[in-house]
Amino acid sequence: MTGRSSHLNATAEAYDAVAVQYAELVRDELDHVPLDRALLAAFADFVRQAGGGPVAELGCGPGRVTAYLRGLGLDVFGVDLSPVMIDLARRAYPDLRFEVGSMDALDLPDGELSGIVCWYSIIHAPPEELPSYFAEFRRVLAPGGHLLLGFFESEGGEVAAFDHRVTTAYRWPIDDLAAVARESRFVEVGRMLREPRDVERFRQGRLLMRRVP
Ligand SMILES: C[S@@+](CC[C@H](N)C(=O)[O-])C[C@H]1O[C@@H](n2cnc3c(N)ncnc32)[C@H](O)[C@@H]1O
Repeated sequence: MTGRSSHLNATAEAYDAVAVQYAELVRDELDHVPLDRALLAAFADFVRQAGGGPVAELGCGPGRVTAYLRGLGLDVFGVDLSPVMIDLARRAYPDLRFEVGSMDALDLPDGELSGIVCWYSIIHAPPEELPSYFAEFRRVLAPGGHLLLGFFESEGGEVAAFDHRVTTAYRWPIDDLAAVARESRFVEVGRMLREPRDVERFRQGRLLMRRVP
């Protein structure tokens, strides 16, 4: 994997190593979070109301969120850095498309997508690189396309690395993350802060944004 930044190689290797355990851990997680299910359903409605079209889950891991979005009627595929994750996703959901790739350099034409979901995947982007991720989201989204982010919220602190169990990850103040997205000309549609469940350590942030022309 030459030509890629070392953090991408480190992230891919870290997720390759834990992919099977991770898939097992999160398999039924959405069953326990009705607020997240409601938000994913709202995202699907926004995409449909804007005319529908292809949606990508970027950093899809084992594909369970991709499959959930498909169940909501979206034309969705998944992309992930980790080849082992993609292999697991393809085996679990053989009717869905999954590709190895990085969300900061997507093999997609300009304006191809109607929606993007990043569910706990931008958490691994070094903060100084995040603007270039949003620039790539903007490039591949059609005007009016929607972007849904799930992340760990900083609960009053600044953006900071924390001891994520797999590899380096960052918690973000929700206002600061929204501000980075706005720099790439996304407008906020809505947000949610969810308190941690018993198995979680931190408050969970959700941002729904729309790409403006
Ligand atoms: C915490 S897991 C979340 C997986 C999935 N979204 C879910 O909720 O089950 C984070 C995933 O993001 C992927 N990832 C991290 N950085 C990425 C990048 N730059 N491009 C694509 N995938 C990335 C990792 O390989 C990992 O599978």
